[in-house]
Amino acid sequence: MNTDALRLADRMQHIGMSPTMKGTMEAERLRRQGVDVVDLGAGEPDFPTPAHVTAAARQAIDQQFTKYTANMGILELREAVGSRYQQDYGVTYRPDEVVMTAGGKQALHHAAFALFGPGDEVVTHAPGWPTLVEQIKLADARPVVVRTRADEGFALTADALLAAVTPRTRAIVLNSPGNPTGALLSEAEARKLARAVESHGLWIVIDLCYEKLIYDGVPHNLPKIFGDVMRDRLVLAGSMSKSYAMTGWRCGWLAGPKAVASAANALQSHSTSNVNSITQRAGVAALTGPQTCVDEMLAEYKTRRDQVLRWLADEPRVRCSVPQGAFYVFPDISEFLSPNGVRTSIEFADGLLRDEHVVTTAGEAFDTPGFVRLSYANSLERLQEGVTRFLRYARGLSG
Ligand SMILES: Cc1ncc(COP(=O)(O)O)c(C=O)c1O
Repeated sequence: MNTDALRLADRMQHIGMSPTMKGTMEAERLRRQGVDVVDLGAGEPDFPTPAHVTAAARQAIDQQFTKYTANMGILELREAVGSRYQQDYGVTYRPDEVVMTAGGKQALHHAAFALFGPGDEVVTHAPGWPTLVEQIKLADARPVVVRTRADEGFALTADALLAAVTPRTRAIVLNSPGNPTGALLSEAEARKLARAVESHGLWIVIDLCYEKLIYDGVPHNLPKIFGDVMRDRLVLAGSMSKSYAMTGWRCGWLAGPKAVASAANALQSHSTSNVNSITQRAGVAALTGPQTCVDEMLAEYKTRRDQVLRWLADEPRVRCSVPQGAFYVFPDISEFLSPNGVRTSIEFADGLLRDEHVVTTAGEAFDTPGFVRLSYANSLERLQEGVTRFLRYARGLSG
């Protein structure tokens, strides 16, 4: 047998399974053995999908709305995305500027494939969601990663991003609110960045998947700020997943200039085709129905965030900035690491799972060793149990 024939394509040398999914799989294994696992690893809401959304899906099935749809999504849904953006941000996106995708992840993948190629540098940031960098690499471009600082709450700044721009830079890919930090690109920094980037002729791609999960009413109108200056080079990726507790339904969108939407439509027509028809009907209900469900979930996440931060503050060696959005805290646990004990945050997260049965995600998954991500998409009771075990494990290490 020619072993070379078994070799995978070269691109697979540089890509592995999304590391944020590993903890979930291990937790599942332990749970099957009857272990009381506290899952602080989840990257998804613990809330049920709202009832009016599931009802719309049931109705779609009953009405046999179960066939192919337009590749880019049913008109009603693309119009619903446009109306939401009009209402929420005061910006206009026509239906031919919106493509419905299998989650925000696919929208970002389309953006990378439509815009980036060999020789291009694409600036993004860390700590960050690993998929953004992997997608840039899959598109044969080179990611240039700007580091944000824990002592500045991981805030993204225009200056830091612009300092990474070279004549080869094609785009800046931003995630705000960010996973795993919950940090935002502030409106002031966005204005500064938009003005500078406009003159450089760069594209801006914004992952807005957590856009509905921002605490304390901090204004975050990035679509308008960038759109006012450079709408023809702005691509937005949105998602139903986190806002409406719909991760499993796989529904997101790309909104951008018509040429990019058409490219995304073409890419999708040769890969997955339309988003599941039933999900699309559910999506219409989510976007056009009452938004009180979003407010209620946000209020609950805020209570949890504040409580988790209070519990963690009990141990001064755990340093943790206050996330402004999303549903994660990202504490620095480096004080507990030592050359002769637990040496890395991967070992820390593994030990925490082994000894205390708490799932977290090591900072290495977000290109930031020395930290761990705790998701507070869990009940207060489970969070208290999880943080208690987390602190007990940390304190038990010699450090
Ligand atoms: C920062 C970020 N962007 C995008 C996504 C994609 O979510 P989905 O494809 O479910 O919309 C996720 C999911 O975890 C995420 O954390």
